[in-house]
Amino acid sequence: MSTSWTLFVVVLTLLNIGVLAWLLIANARSKPDPSAKDSTTGHVWDGDLVELNNPLPRWWFGLFVLTIVFSIGYLVFYPGLGNFAGKFGWTSLGEADREVAATRERLDSLFAQFRGRPIDELASDPAATKVGRNVFANNCAACHGSDARGAKGYPNLVDEDALYGADADTMLASVLGGRHGIMPPLAAALPDAGVDEVAHYALSLSGLAHDAPLASAGKPKFEAICSACHGIDGKGNPLLGGPDLTDDVWLYGPGDLAGIRTAIEKGRAGVMPAWGPLIGEDRARLAVAWLIAQREQPVAAAATPTPGASP
Ligand code: HEC
Ligand code: HEC
Repeated sequence: MSTSWTLFVVVLTLLNIGVLAWLLIANARSKPDPSAKDSTTGHVWDGDLVELNNPLPRWWFGLFVLTIVFSIGYLVFYPGLGNFAGKFGWTSLGEADREVAATRERLDSLFAQFRGRPIDELASDPAATKVGRNVFANNCAACHGSDARGAKGYPNLVDEDALYGADADTMLASVLGGRHGIMPPLAAALPDAGVDEVAHYALSLSGLAHDAPLASAGKPKFEAICSACHGIDGKGNPLLGGPDLTDDVWLYGPGDLAGIRTAIEKGRAGVMPAWGPLIGEDRARLAVAWLIAQREQPVAAAATPTPGASP
């Protein structure tokens, strides 16, 4: 606040208190109205209802004095008069900092019990996954869904199929450092029917309906252009986040000709922000532990029909 504003506030505040004090004292003692015959104000309603002119009760007067004393005391010890910080040096920021520090300390002891334990072990500790679930709900669910099963462009985090790797350490690295999957637009590199050919080949990789001649024309082009990021066999490249194109699991589903063509023509660029600076390693490890605990249990062998077996 500039000096003139400070002065303005100080003068206005003190003037207010002064005027209030004067009002109180000036009206404390009732001066009888010289024109009145008794101690009334002279006002009469309904013929006989008169207003008496009595002083304020002592306790009431005392309360008013107290509020004035309190306000002066407050302005001496706490900030209120322009830039004057008050004798206690109290600030709302300082108060907030103290609260944050106290919360940190409390949380730190909560996290300390999980620190240093392997994530896979935390995944089977209900106390750890309970905290991890909250971390996930607060920071990750907006993009990955509250059940972590993802949405278009946001990967499912509870299946074994991962862009960068489904093991605890790789997942932790994804969370702390963020990820940026980059697929450039490639139509220019695939003239004529090139885009269609490669797209049909991509469909064939997942065993989806495709045009066989187009697909076989696309195979060498795939190997030349796409294999760097999707692998020579199309099974993906976890170093670059190139998805496995053979499993019929689609980040930008549904996996059909139109979707694959869009990926090739426009490119794709999913961005996962780096969460390390925001939530720190303790929370990130617990979120990953919860994700691992959510993975669908492998379907029991007895429940899967054996191909070719008679029912
Ligand atoms: C702003 C949206 C957004 C938020 C919030 C977000 N993510 Fe992601 N996350 C993504 C996207 C998009 C990708 C895929 C990146 C890519 O396509 O390369 C991803 C990828 C990942 C991966 C790698 C998946 C794989 O298949 O390898 C993990 C693990 C992950 N996120 C965990 C988390 C966790 C845990 C949080 C919360 C702390 C979180 N994410 C918050 C958008 C988000
Ligand atoms: C420079 C590396 C790179 C090259 C080259 C590349 N891709 Fe990709 N592609 C990616 C990445 C990374 C993603 C995932 C993008 C994301 O995470 O948002 C992707 C995504 C896709 C998808 C969507 C997958 C899904 O699950 O929805 C398709 C389809 C695809 N690519 C096909 C191709 C084809 C066909 C080619 C060759 C013409 C190709 N890509 C070349 C890196 C590449």
